[in-house]
Amino acid sequence: MVLPLTAQINEGGHLEIGGCDTVELAKRFNTPLFVMDEMTIRKQCREYLSSFRKLDKNTEVIYASKAFISIAMCQIIQEEGLLLDVSSGGELYIAKKANFPSEKIFMHGNNKTPQELELALEMGIDCIVVDSENELELLDKMASEKGVKPDIMLRITPGIKPSTHNYIQTGQVDSKFGFGLADGIALETVKRTLEYKNLCLRGLHIHIGSQIFALHSYAKAIEIIMDFTKQVFDETGFSATEINVGGGLGIKYEAKDEPSTIKEYAEVIVRGVQREAEKHGIPCPKILVEPGRSIVGNSGVTLYTVGTIKKIPGIRTYISIDGGMSDNLRPMLYDAVYEAMIANKANFEPVSKVTLAGKHCEAGDVLIKDVKLPSVEVGDILCTPATGAYGYMMANNYNKQPRPAVIFVNKGNATEIIRRENYEDLVCLERPLK
Ligand code: LLP
Repeated sequence: MVLPLTAQINEGGHLEIGGCDTVELAKRFNTPLFVMDEMTIRKQCREYLSSFRKLDKNTEVIYASKAFISIAMCQIIQEEGLLLDVSSGGELYIAKKANFPSEKIFMHGNNKTPQELELALEMGIDCIVVDSENELELLDKMASEKGVKPDIMLRITPGIKPSTHNYIQTGQVDSKFGFGLADGIALETVKRTLEYKNLCLRGLHIHIGSQIFALHSYAKAIEIIMDFTKQVFDETGFSATEINVGGGLGIKYEAKDEPSTIKEYAEVIVRGVQREAEKHGIPCPKILVEPGRSIVGNSGVTLYTVGTIKKIPGIRTYISIDGGMSDNLRPMLYDAVYEAMIANKANFEPVSKVTLAGKHCEAGDVLIKDVKLPSVEVGDILCTPATGAYGYMMANNYNKQPRPAVIFVNKGNATEIIRRENYEDLVCLERPLK
């Protein structure tokens, strides 16, 4: 599955998603346009809950909202019974606006500002995942001033380097995140945390990275964190009631990708924690997972309009579309590879290789190099699948490009859940010199 679950080619030979003709959507809402299939998002949520709870009822799935957050998305997550992870005050504020229950929110971040912690404490969120010594001190002081005692977890760096792009590895020793195990800092920190009067330690958190296919890195990380849990228990008597193993399950961006399934992932996580708990003779903690990309990534596609075609004889053909690095930074940041199709020629055979370029003043603004497509003409609607995660969230206004709209489609209905920015939006924060 690279395309959303409900994708099909309709009688007009157009790509259809959620019962909506994408070529019609492009006409109605203009391009570039993010189209997200509600059914795919809900199916992934259900697959996560059922796969984990089948193996262990005492598990929670926390949606990592950095992959894609909006008020409508929060509503779906709540309806599907997942918890929510936010990594900034902005994400927390959106959850608040969506009336997402505070007691189901986890907060992350390696440098949460006092204002962000203030909002978290005011809202009374479920748990703050503390990332540094400075944060512990600050949070304890703020909690004392407010007369509250927030639940916290400590983010531990297990010293693992999974196989994925360097920029999205987070569990290695040399990481800005969390408390290191190798240098003994993690153990020291747990001991100190237990002395803080205004903080309630619930357990430990790890997150080794993102877009991970090989599950053995998770098995190793679990072994390491459970060894540590046992060490903590022996040295302090503290028994972690929860273990949060983070997110990171990879998805299919290209047909040839072979990510593990949610079921296989659940098996490795749940059986891993259970096995290690038994090995150490400690009670099995509640297991928490934090998927982002694998919930929402394949639900989304981006639609673009082809504006210009430049043929360089014997070298390559550039097809330029009306978006690019302002709506999808992943090819430029992580060398991410995408597929493409022509939404209005969905049943045409590919004929030649072309390069899909963005419209930005930057030679590196290339979405896909050498993609095989049917004969492309100006005005065609190009579709890049698997852009539901970290697409709109990393969108920007480079070259003062307004950010696209986001449409949720379901059973033939299209709902604009984020409207397109307009030129007025681009200047609304500006003030002229006096
Ligand atoms: N939990 C924590 C603490 C995280 O930092 C992340 C992602 C997740 C969960 C969710 O990971 P996921 O299941 O989505 O892989 N912009 C990059 C990805 C950055 C991931 C940051 N942290 C990309 O586009 O590939």
